[in-house]
Amino acid sequence: MLKDRTGLAFFVGLLLAGTAPDARAHPAHAKPVNYPFVVGFERFHSGMDDEAYLAEGGFILLNELNCVACHAPPAVLAEQFSGVVATELDGVASRLAPLELEIFIRNPRFAKRDTTMPSLFAGPDRDLDEVAALRAWLGTLTKEIPAHPLGDIERGRALYHRTGCVACHAPETGYRPPGVPDNAEIEMAGLASVPMNLADLYDLNALVEFLLHPNEHRPSGRMPDFGLSVADASDLAAYLKAGPDLVLPENLTEALTADAPTADTALVAKGRELFLTKQCHACHTMPGNTDAHQAAPSAKSLASLDPAATGGCFSERPVGGPVPFYGLDLLQRRALAAALKRLGERSALDPAREIDWRMKQLNCYACHERAGIGGPETSREVYFGFSGPEAIAMGRDGHLPPALDEAGKRLVRERLEGILFGPTRPVSSRPHLVVPMPVFRKESVAPFPVLFPAADHGGAP
Ligand code: HEC
Ligand code: HEC
Ligand code: HEC
Ligand code: HEC
Repeated sequence: MLKDRTGLAFFVGLLLAGTAPDARAHPAHAKPVNYPFVVGFERFHSGMDDEAYLAEGGFILLNELNCVACHAPPAVLAEQFSGVVATELDGVASRLAPLELEIFIRNPRFAKRDTTMPSLFAGPDRDLDEVAALRAWLGTLTKEIPAHPLGDIERGRALYHRTGCVACHAPETGYRPPGVPDNAEIEMAGLASVPMNLADLYDLNALVEFLLHPNEHRPSGRMPDFGLSVADASDLAAYLKAGPDLVLPENLTEALTADAPTADTALVAKGRELFLTKQCHACHTMPGNTDAHQAAPSAKSLASLDPAATGGCFSERPVGGPVPFYGLDLLQRRALAAALKRLGERSALDPAREIDWRMKQLNCYACHERAGIGGPETSREVYFGFSGPEAIAMGRDGHLPPALDEAGKRLVRERLEGILFGPTRPVSSRPHLVVPMPVFRKESVAPFPVLFPAADHGGAP
């Protein structure tokens, strides 16, 4: 049985909730977990104490936490463990204020406790001059951001709760989607939600830009593009920035200008160099430089790591030097150790297993069920909006995305390509749906049009 790891936290949260607006009620202020949050592990592999199943979760972590960027996987598994490319840092100084930028470099867990970015400056040997240099350099990475008209908080709030965001992110506790009868109880979401606390820290216009182009901003491809209009993105951003009181802060533009770093050229140059020596480029592409992989990240190979290690990246406290600190919890360490132990037995995945592997990474399961796995959590179904009385009459089919069983039989490869990445997406056969099929990064979904037919016909596509 899959068990909910956050159940207790929610229960405690409920007991503590008083009459004052509870910060946790708002999705961008939801209570974070105290370890790096990886949705595919959290939903599917954290609740069952079966060694093989936990190891499967460990494999997901090896990829999603980008361990494989420094600890090279065996050549035969290189394609499977391609890792993730982290947030594009070009323009970061137009998103985060100098102080927040500094905190993120120094210890990202202070800016976002459940972040998947490990800390490289939390060890006892941390050098704050290096932090300052990195901040000085990242501080020069500004980008022209269009000033969008101020969005409408209430419209954004309604949109957020009907357009599919809540498939992955937290609903606002206590929010009642329209159409839910007054006497019906709104169930708490049981499964953990993808954190989005940075929405609170980003500059408002930068947040709008992010929502319009998530695939460029986050090359990880984990946050899909909903094809939002500028007006819708502005409304959503206003809601996310407004926080639990549903009021926008007064100093919306001051944040980025208050303490603009003066560009000390020597310091900036040092920061630029540190980006490579501190191995930031293991996960981030080097801004302004397309061939910065010259100094390939170096550490022991994945196969040579000791599953029983208690040091290095498995250490409970930051050890410093070149070793990153993730703040892994005990279960994650066990899963990772189990995966390392089974690395030798890991083989190429057949199409059905590869579909499952990728659907967990990209969280397709938040919206789609396949082979009895995933699908929207029952308590979240109310956040998949109905378009009108006709859709309501259709029941669940009127608002929930289709199950993907036999997708490869129903849909030919060209059609699948069209649905997943165009160039022009086919006209929907389900115009009653409010939640769209969002656009994922093409690199992330490119294998699916081949995999679905191969898995569902039991042969070559
Ligand atoms: C930015 C690069 C980097 C990333 C990312 C990284 N590591 Fe490491 N890791 C190191 C370095 C450097 C060491 C020190 C030993 C060495 O040179 O391999 C180390 C050491 C270790 C050790 C101890 C090695 C031993 O045999 O004593 C383990 C275990 C480990 N890492 C596991 C992981 C796991 C699991 C992840 C992902 C959650 C990860 N590492 C992510 C760089 C990295
Ligand atoms: C399929 C799951 C999924 C859906 C649906 C989704 N998101 Fe996300 N979102 C993510 C993931 C995963 C990340 C983190 C991505 C990363 O760091 O690479 C993210 C990040 C974000 C962030 C950045 C904040 C932070 O702390 O990283 C914001 C803001 C955000 N999402 C808003 C939205 C909004 C608004 C919607 C609805 C229009 C939405 N998301 C729908 C998965 C999703
Ligand atoms: C093991 C991979 C990894 C390494 C190494 C790494 N980062 Fe990150 N970084 C990430 C991930 C993943 C995110 C997105 C985190 C999130 O949204 O929760 C991120 C986000 C950031 C952000 C916030 C950007 C934004 O606009 O939201 C900054 C700044 C940053 N990293 C700087 C650095 C610097 C500087 C270094 C080197 C000292 C570094 N990172 C090393 C994975 C990494
Ligand atoms: C936010 C919810 C959401 C997420 C996340 C999502 N989808 Fe979808 N998907 C939909 C909706 C809604 C449709 C139906 C679109 C229509 O018919 O108009 C759909 C349709 C599809 C179809 C066509 C199915 C059919 O029978 O017509 C495929 C294939 C598909 N999605 C694959 C994926 C894959 C692969 C992922 C992960 C990379 C994914 N989807 C993530 C909402 C989602």
